[in-house]
Amino acid sequence: MKISSEVELREKIKVEIAVSAEAGAAIVADEIVSLVLKKEARNEKAVLGLPTGSTPVALYRELIRRHREALVSFRNVVTFNLDEYFPITNDHRESYRRFMGEQFFNHIDVPESQIHIPDGNLLREEVFSHCQEYEELIRLAGGIDLQILGIGRTGHIGFNEPGSSKSSGTRLVTLDRLTRLDAARDFLGEKNVPRHAITMGVGTVLSAKQVILIAWGNNKADIVARAVEGPVTESVSASFLQTHSNARFIVDTPAASNLTRINLPWLVGPVAWSEKRTRRAVCWLSSEVNKPVLKLLDEDYNENGMAELLIEAGPAYPLNIRIFNELQHSITGWPGGKPDADDTNRPERAHPFPKRVVVLSPEPMDDVVSMGGTLSRLVDQGHLVEVVYMTSGDLGVPDAEVGKFTNNLNETACCLGREWNPQVEYCQQIMELLNRKGLFDYDSNEVRQLKGLLRRAEVREACWGCGIDPEHVHFLDLPFYQKGHYRQFHLSDDDLKPLLNVLRHYQPHQIYITGNRENPISVQALCFELFSRAYRGISDEAWVRDCHVWLYSGREWTFSPFEVDMAVPMSPAQLAQKMEAIDQHQTQRSQTIHNAERDRSTACLYDKLGLAEYEAIEVFQRWRSELIKTKAPLAVIES
Ligand code: PGA
Repeated sequence: MKISSEVELREKIKVEIAVSAEAGAAIVADEIVSLVLKKEARNEKAVLGLPTGSTPVALYRELIRRHREALVSFRNVVTFNLDEYFPITNDHRESYRRFMGEQFFNHIDVPESQIHIPDGNLLREEVFSHCQEYEELIRLAGGIDLQILGIGRTGHIGFNEPGSSKSSGTRLVTLDRLTRLDAARDFLGEKNVPRHAITMGVGTVLSAKQVILIAWGNNKADIVARAVEGPVTESVSASFLQTHSNARFIVDTPAASNLTRINLPWLVGPVAWSEKRTRRAVCWLSSEVNKPVLKLLDEDYNENGMAELLIEAGPAYPLNIRIFNELQHSITGWPGGKPDADDTNRPERAHPFPKRVVVLSPEPMDDVVSMGGTLSRLVDQGHLVEVVYMTSGDLGVPDAEVGKFTNNLNETACCLGREWNPQVEYCQQIMELLNRKGLFDYDSNEVRQLKGLLRRAEVREACWGCGIDPEHVHFLDLPFYQKGHYRQFHLSDDDLKPLLNVLRHYQPHQIYITGNRENPISVQALCFELFSRAYRGISDEAWVRDCHVWLYSGREWTFSPFEVDMAVPMSPAQLAQKMEAIDQHQTQRSQTIHNAERDRSTACLYDKLGLAEYEAIEVFQRWRSELIKTKAPLAVIES
């Protein structure tokens, strides 16, 4: 995309928007490989600063691929990792040392002696000198040639949380609450996340010769925009990159979605006013001037960079009415369509009735968190709802939950006498496996199986709370998840078959799914990828042509009213019922916060736009099959 001077004025760091995270990772891999080759030709070492987390996984996979194809060697590379939790043992499942081995170093030829990672396994009194030494080692290596960064939702680079100064060096820091919450899933509970970390400072990062920050997925959209377009401030460490002469961001489209050129493009240049863009602009104007849509004046449009829109589609009042009606028509209490009603202006068609509905939930709880109220409505309104859990969700179950269950079973078995011996033996076996594993290592298959069963029990309770009988609850336990761990999943054809079977069996009129805007290595994104491939494979079947696919929001992001095709309101009682259903996911209570605020604030947005004031709203976007025309064919799946 050609960058206009208005965009340059707003974006104070160069941003490249890649069509996908894979494409973005390939751009960064090109940079790294060309640096390494250039240095090699000069008989010098390339010094890389490296990040951890979900974001760089695609990059490391791409570099490993190139190494395997003999396109690059890392013999002449020196690496410095950004950070490490403190305290943490080196072999802890979540230690960054272990992450780097598993994700990258064990698969390439970089000599061990050229790898540097802050040591999280020191005594507290040793940390200060370790940090000084780390800075000295970077200096002795000639400084970092290319620093790769991720960005946290607090705006941190490394673990430089809000408040870090521009000149800070490698040091011990305290982690922000949001950062610890984001890590809670991996550590099976917020309380297990270390409170501190050792991190290179902002100053250390800024002294690198070149810096590339990468970000994928909708979760990062807000902080990317603040870092790039906001002021340089200690409250967003990444904003300090604005002061670096050779820093750039490489982001995918969801992560770019809050940049002005994407979000509010009419503010930075002439645009074609499509229907969707017009709706976006009017919704934005309404919140900008704090007036409901129907009260917007010609002056409001003119004074806020939308004079062109008025020329094309004005004057204000008929335009306001048009957009108001579009928004109004997206709101329905009948997500499966209202039988025998005129459906000309309804998001879902009236017939057939009842509809066969398949709700796909990538992990247990995705469904109920984002569409628990809608699930209840579909059932109450007589539709035939099947809820399909794509993965078992066992990876999210803390060991303590297993302990609780086995103690209970053991005690019951002991009370009931001798014929319960197999149960007692089972409990002992599970406890032994857990003890042998240690607190944070990977689980054996037996323990994973039990954890999966614990989740099944709570899933059934949650579904029951939404009015769904157990026989309409299905578990696919897709193999990619059962064989993998977070950030280490690989799809195969074996994952497609169960999904295809379930879709062909029920031949639904409606499918609900999420995951299209997530980081591509997340469970949700992988499940969505599988779904879109499956759907493409069956798109010629007659029932598919009569099937509507509805996307529901992610656990940490939701659709804005302008992009919503169906908004389903909830009464206070319906919202309370939904929260009760979510609460059935007992094993998840220590690592996720689910309150009713998101659904309430969505309702608030509609209220402010001048629509009816509801207690809470769930929102959906229609996924149209033309969106998948460019996808890879069904058979091409990585193994
Ligand atoms: P993530 O973390 O890649 O896991 O999102 C990025 C960061 O915190 O820097």
